[in-house]
Amino acid sequence: MRAPPLRGRLRVPGDKSISHRALIFGALATGTTRIRGLLEAEDIINTARAVAALGASTAKDGDVWEVKGRGPGGLHQPQGPLEFGNSGTGARLMMGVIAGHPITVQMTGDASLSRRPMRRVLAPLMQMGLQVLEPGKETLPLTLRGASDLMPIIYALPVPSAQVKSAVLIAGLHAAGETTIIEREATRDHTERMLRHFGASVRTEQQNGATHITVKGDCELAGRDIVVPGDPSSAAFLAAAALIVPGSDITIEGVLINPTRTGLYTTFQEMGGDVTFLNEREEGGEPIADIRVRASRLKGVRVPAERAPSMIDEYPMLAAVSAFAQGETRMDGLAELKVKESDRLQATAAGLAANGVVARVAGDSLMIEGGGGIRGGGLVATHLDHRIAMAFLTAGLASDKPIVVDDSAMIATSFPEFRGILQGLGARFEEPGT
Ligand code: S3P
Repeated sequence: MRAPPLRGRLRVPGDKSISHRALIFGALATGTTRIRGLLEAEDIINTARAVAALGASTAKDGDVWEVKGRGPGGLHQPQGPLEFGNSGTGARLMMGVIAGHPITVQMTGDASLSRRPMRRVLAPLMQMGLQVLEPGKETLPLTLRGASDLMPIIYALPVPSAQVKSAVLIAGLHAAGETTIIEREATRDHTERMLRHFGASVRTEQQNGATHITVKGDCELAGRDIVVPGDPSSAAFLAAAALIVPGSDITIEGVLINPTRTGLYTTFQEMGGDVTFLNEREEGGEPIADIRVRASRLKGVRVPAERAPSMIDEYPMLAAVSAFAQGETRMDGLAELKVKESDRLQATAAGLAANGVVARVAGDSLMIEGGGGIRGGGLVATHLDHRIAMAFLTAGLASDKPIVVDDSAMIATSFPEFRGILQGLGARFEEPGT
């Protein structure tokens, strides 16, 4: 609802994908891993609890998280079920861990996670030797039995998913021989980068237009120091806010700019957004920068399908920003959006329509008619999805009337500081009834 110009320098919490992996690889390594900048959000806390329940000790010393790992294959049977809350990444990556240990583990999640497809991960892991004790069941809760003698496989990803790739590569650490993933569309490569940092042998080769990623099994991982950069998927909301609130000029410091994650920023630039990466540098094997964003006149664009994996979590925010751009914005190749924390394609279109924006879904594409901004005044159904809640609350900073979301509790799964940071920049939030 027309916030004052957003100005200043700020930081966002640590990257969620890298935080999950730091805890998991720390647990699989021999020795101590020290993690600075770990995201302290519900999804990550659930992963920390899971690795602790499997026998890796985790403790916080000042602002550093320490994980004492058990070495590959060294995790043990947990006392009770492992609860993953809202987190597909936590659950799917841990399936790869469980696969490589002779333990039986029950995995549970919240209502959203319990609807999400697990077959995509279970299918390759079962080829390697994982057993599902509820045959044919493909959603949580599930009971899995791993093995100490996994078979290495060569697996072509049927969907562009870093979670599936990562689960198979993690299981591959425990297989006798080399496990290869073939990916046609590049997905985030934090697993490959971090496994190398921990001393694993990971090879990446281009063959016939595809990337082949090969991990050697039965290798030692050694505990390492890790610095987690700012999450570009969280920074996306602040960048969007600065673009659409007139007079804004913000700099978000220390954000991950790995090219497998920056599709939204490229798209903003193509729309005419004043978005620049400053002070580019490397930290812990990942490229980072300070991102400066100034309010801009935007124009509608066509976002190609092949860019989807590099901005898969950012479409709800882009869709809302598109309402402020002149002309139509068309986003193609959004099939994977339907199986996120909610069906984000429908949830985004419905939330925009409820707030006076013409939004159309056709197959795997989303079309937004821009130019009129967002009238607001409508209620957004968030379907237990943090990014739907944050995208629409952010859009509310520039809508004519306030935008109301039905639930904001899930924001704590990825970005607990969201509200405080926006308030610090001058945004106002109201609770229903106040
Ligand atoms: C993630 C991969 C993506 C993304 C998710 C985090 C990861 O999911 O949506 O938020 O850390 O590997 P998919 O791999 O299913 O596309």
